[in-house]
Amino acid sequence: MNRASVRARIVGTGMYVPERVVTNDELASMMDTSDEWIQQRTGIRERRWVNDGQTPVDLAKAACLQALESAELEIGDVDCILLATLSPQHDFPGTSFFLHEELKAGEIPCIDLRAQCSGFLYALNFGDALITSGKHERVMVVGCEVHSTGLDISTNGRDVTVIFGDGAGALILEANRDEEDPAGILQIRLHAQGRHAKRLWIEAPSSGTSPRLDQQMLDEGRHFPRMEGRQVFKHAVTRMPEVLLEALSAASIKVDDVNLFLFHQANLRINEFVSQKLEIPEEKVFSNIQRFGNCSAASIPMLLAEVDRNRQLERGGIVCMTAFGSGFTWGSAVLRW
Ligand code: COA
Repeated sequence: MNRASVRARIVGTGMYVPERVVTNDELASMMDTSDEWIQQRTGIRERRWVNDGQTPVDLAKAACLQALESAELEIGDVDCILLATLSPQHDFPGTSFFLHEELKAGEIPCIDLRAQCSGFLYALNFGDALITSGKHERVMVVGCEVHSTGLDISTNGRDVTVIFGDGAGALILEANRDEEDPAGILQIRLHAQGRHAKRLWIEAPSSGTSPRLDQQMLDEGRHFPRMEGRQVFKHAVTRMPEVLLEALSAASIKVDDVNLFLFHQANLRINEFVSQKLEIPEEKVFSNIQRFGNCSAASIPMLLAEVDRNRQLERGGIVCMTAFGSGFTWGSAVLRW
């Protein structure tokens, strides 16, 4: 079998969010903000936060088990786990290793990938390459974030804190060699620009300082995420349409021929802007930021799992997924469902 005729198709999806719902009004009881401000600027109504003791691995495990169940597969059928996160459970080893143990994944390889809110698309790119190169038959791709344990819940952190939520999404990629079945990833395009790394980042702890974290850093809140919100917004609304068109053009597909657009759930206003710019009709864009906030690397696989669960997509339909995030990173993937 010629390698070029192998495509990576999605055979199972799953998602999980913690039970604890945190409404905008609840945030307003912790800091100077309001439901009106948050909804107007971001579209978010509520998000989920983990309960005490609930870990990223707990979320990822539930999403992975659902993905395996929907694919009618066992963990023993998977050859590799790729986990995208910006909120690893520990500094090292990565979250994927603790997930590996929880899933009883034997001795298959696993790795964490860190490309923040574009992390899932980066992981999907590597999963696709592992399959189309013939290295693996099945790859589990996971996005998992627990933001809530690392947010500044005072008024100082309100610009960032109101945006983020906790959640996990997972999918299983499988080699498709069936020439009658066109399902699979068609094109992925990724970019990064490290020049902007400090526009959305967490400074400490850092292995570039000794000690990595001290009382002064804590007092100054340097362990909390910091963001130049307007710059992020400006770059996102430029880069997302750019890379979306680049991926579609590489796949020889027109914007009008796409059945469903899944955008990273950073801010509903960013996504509305992108849709308007590309004249994408509202009904072709699925969002869940209103209920879950920005779950970074987990946002797109969570969307995909919901779409799959609700049967919102016919087999053969074209899906275009586009993200932007810290790094800065951005990317777009086009697939036939
Ligand atoms: N509640 C109430 N007021 C808030 C607030 C909050 N949660 N966060 C910020 N403000 C205040 C600011 O302090 C500022 O007050 P001031 O005018 O008295 O100084 C005012 O609102 C405007 O702040 P600004 O940062 O200019 O607002 P904005 O219109 O740029 O909206 C964001 C802020 C964060 C919603 C917006 O910049 C954004 O969405 N950026 C992109 C963020 C993103 O997508 N991040 C994730 C990328 S993966």
